[in-house]
Amino acid sequence: MNILITGNMGYVGPGVAAHLREVFPEARLVGVDNGWFAHCLTSHNILPEIALDEQWFRDVRSLQVEDLKGFDAIVHLAAVSNDPMGNRFEAVTDTINRQASIRLAELAVDAGVRRFVFASSCSVYGVAEDGRARSEQDAVNPLTAYARSKIGTEEGLLQLKRNNLVTTSLRFATACGISDRLRLDLVLNDFVAAALATGTISVLSDGTPWRPLIHVKDMARAIEWALVREADENGDFLRINVGSDEWNYQVRDLAHAVARILGGIDVSINAEAPPDRRSYRVDFGLYRQRAPKHQPQETLDSTIAGLRDGLRAIKFSDPEFRQSNLIRLRVLERHLESQALAEDLRWRRKEIIPDGIAA
Ligand SMILES: NC(=O)c1ccc[n+]([C@@H]2O[C@H](COP(=O)([O-])OP(=O)(O)OC[C@H]3O[C@@H](n4cnc5c(N)ncnc54)[C@H](O)[C@@H]3O)[C@@H](O)[C@H]2O)c1
Repeated sequence: MNILITGNMGYVGPGVAAHLREVFPEARLVGVDNGWFAHCLTSHNILPEIALDEQWFRDVRSLQVEDLKGFDAIVHLAAVSNDPMGNRFEAVTDTINRQASIRLAELAVDAGVRRFVFASSCSVYGVAEDGRARSEQDAVNPLTAYARSKIGTEEGLLQLKRNNLVTTSLRFATACGISDRLRLDLVLNDFVAAALATGTISVLSDGTPWRPLIHVKDMARAIEWALVREADENGDFLRINVGSDEWNYQVRDLAHAVARILGGIDVSINAEAPPDRRSYRVDFGLYRQRAPKHQPQETLDSTIAGLRDGLRAIKFSDPEFRQSNLIRLRVLERHLESQALAEDLRWRRKEIIPDGIAA
């Protein structure tokens, strides 16, 4: 099997590459990433990309049909990948996340690719005021540019003339857990980092919003499933929530779980905060039914302990971590400040690689 993984050099990608290498040892794995966060490694021993056969430093907006010929499957992770970045780069979020994703799937059809796995998000549910867990049959309510880009891509994939392209849109819960390119702009990861660096977790909301979570390792298991799942020959399209019912947590419960496992941590909850509208519980019944052998396996306690151990291993102690390279928006802002990236988030290569060196 020949598999192209886009956006493999981010937070989720390294675990996906390692997992696919383990379960498909004979596969040809190729990564394509523009490398925004390539330098943000948090495991210093081994470059995660050695799990691949090839790494391309390319922008998915520039891929052509010839690039995709010979691949059996595309795992499409490349994106402007969270709400703060989507708010800052609203137009580019639409261009990369929606337009380029639909174009990539069209090229995949033309190139004869047979599987397309899209990393969507449960954030499409946005707010679920009645507290009922949302299933794939429910109306969506995207509140942000990022969430709109994900649902817009799903609509495009649904309407696409897919021929034989079996397409799966995995609506992932919010990711968490240790990775070779760790991010601290995710709720659980932020709480563990704050606890280690400051001894305190300050919950900015009143702690009541619901957030479904999933470990990055369990995301990789789901991607494996989407690559092999049973499907109609004629370009079956499936959108499916990926996570587990037990991992629907309220934010305050996450804070208390971190405090319990790390010990000696103060938790402060902002009881006066206006309600955070982004609150939703998700029903993962369809995923349980369709993917019984690829269900999430991690536990919350071991995820927190894994983050603690991973952060200690890199001697993490920075109370200003929200300004650091462990926050994706900060990395992009620095690339823009140094003019390495243009506003459309493409590299200005001449500035990065002076002519003399490039030649
Ligand atoms: N982290 C989460 O909580 C979560 C939850 C649900 C879904 N997802 C989705 O999973 C995917 C991976 O998420 P992540 O957390 O690893 O994101 P990330 O931001 O850490 O990584 C995304 C990668 O895509 C690359 N990329 C972005 N635009 C590109 C382009 N135009 N061309 C080539 N490469 C490009 C970046 O360089 C980066 O390496 C994303 O699509 C994201 O929306 C993430």
